[in-house]
Amino acid sequence: MAQHAPAGRSIPIITPAEGVTEEMIRELVVTFYDRVLKDPELGPIFHQKLSGRWSEHLAIMVDFWSSIALRTARYSGKPQAAHFGLDLTAELFARWLGLFESTAREIFEPDVAEFFILRAQRIAESLQIGLGIGPKALRLP
Ligand code: HEM
Repeated sequence: MAQHAPAGRSIPIITPAEGVTEEMIRELVVTFYDRVLKDPELGPIFHQKLSGRWSEHLAIMVDFWSSIALRTARYSGKPQAAHFGLDLTAELFARWLGLFESTAREIFEPDVAEFFILRAQRIAESLQIGLGIGPKALRLP
């Protein structure tokens, strides 16, 4: 997925994920959030926050992943801000990631699944740093 300049110079260029289509992204989002809603710990958080605007959320999440995987730049929201005030914990993030990983592995070929899982892990890490939770949270004396 990373291209390298010739002559030994290694300048990684982020390219769209190979073989990923809008249809695949939609399937990932719909399948994943269907499972999230049924999860006893994650489900209530989403139900409470997104009641009445669920399809809007799914559309935003398709745009979000499309921007990452296909570089369509359709997503222009603020993920950090969206997660404040939800009382999220490192355990909830681990649960979210576990569901995301099993969903991606179930519906995609391994390399495509890894593409999404790696990015979800990185974003989860940065969201947690922003929220001051998780192993990498900044701990001031
Ligand atoms: C414990 C884990 C998580 C929970 C409970 C959670 C919950 C939520 C909720 C309730 C919203 C809707 C906020 C609103 O519109 O009022 C939201 C939005 C969003 N979440 Fe998460 N989230 C979690 C982890 C993640 C992760 C790991 C990612 C990215 C890989 C992510 C990406 C997003 C994005 C892009 C939005 C849309 C923000 C916007 O409206 O622009 N979330 N999340």
